[in-house]
Amino acid sequence: MRKNIVAGNWKMNTTLQEGVKLAKEVNEELKKVTPKCEVVICVPFTHLASVNGVIDSNNLGLGAENCADHKSGAYTGEISAAMVASTGATHVILGHSERRQYYGENSEILKEKVNLALANGLTPIFCIGEVLEQRENGSYLEVVKAQIEEALFGLSPEDFGKLILAYEPVWAIGTGKTATDDQAEEMHAFIRGVIADKYGKEVADNTSILYGGSCKPTNAAALFAKPNVDGGLIGGASLDAESFMGIVNAF
Ligand code: PGA
Repeated sequence: MRKNIVAGNWKMNTTLQEGVKLAKEVNEELKKVTPKCEVVICVPFTHLASVNGVIDSNNLGLGAENCADHKSGAYTGEISAAMVASTGATHVILGHSERRQYYGENSEILKEKVNLALANGLTPIFCIGEVLEQRENGSYLEVVKAQIEEALFGLSPEDFGKLILAYEPVWAIGTGKTATDDQAEEMHAFIRGVIADKYGKEVADNTSILYGGSCKPTNAAALFAKPNVDGGLIGGASLDAESFMGIVNAF
């Protein structure tokens, strides 16, 4: 059966020292509770190895926020999936809307990234979601379906089964404007149907689909109570151990 997961996405926040401190705090807080979900923090590349050294990997997973679309070589400034894996990280966020929007990442590029992540034993947390105009003109389901088909439907059922998906409506990211629990459920159920049509019901039922976009301790419980919402990808609220734990404990 699919897992419930709460994953933090720190984005471009915290210095190394601040990040190590935050990771330690989350790690300590997790020891005090028995979370009903898996917990992962996705942190800047510069923090990965140090954070890996201070967390208990049985309680807290570690991920990167991106990886390169090439295996190795002359790509100055890029970080490969193998490099990410060599830090001890187990997850990687791919296809985040900020990468799509500001760094021109399209489905062709993302396909390469997903393949390289899987080849290096990393679990991709693959993000999909529509912009406000697409929500308003009613094309949002088709947009998300196309994002999934284009980047992921070349995978074997076995490889697809290794993914975590994150539905993040772009209009809800960092805006304080959360999708309602019914809007999230509509999309998550739709996504599961799209997966079932391609890979069958078992693969679809076993895929964790997280919601992301202004998820907070105050709205997490209602979102997570929906049958097709298997957790959250948390940006702003993951930068504070107490609010992140408030979301973890919403399960
Ligand atoms: P947010 O970001 O929680 O700050 O809206 C979510 C995300 O972009 O992953």
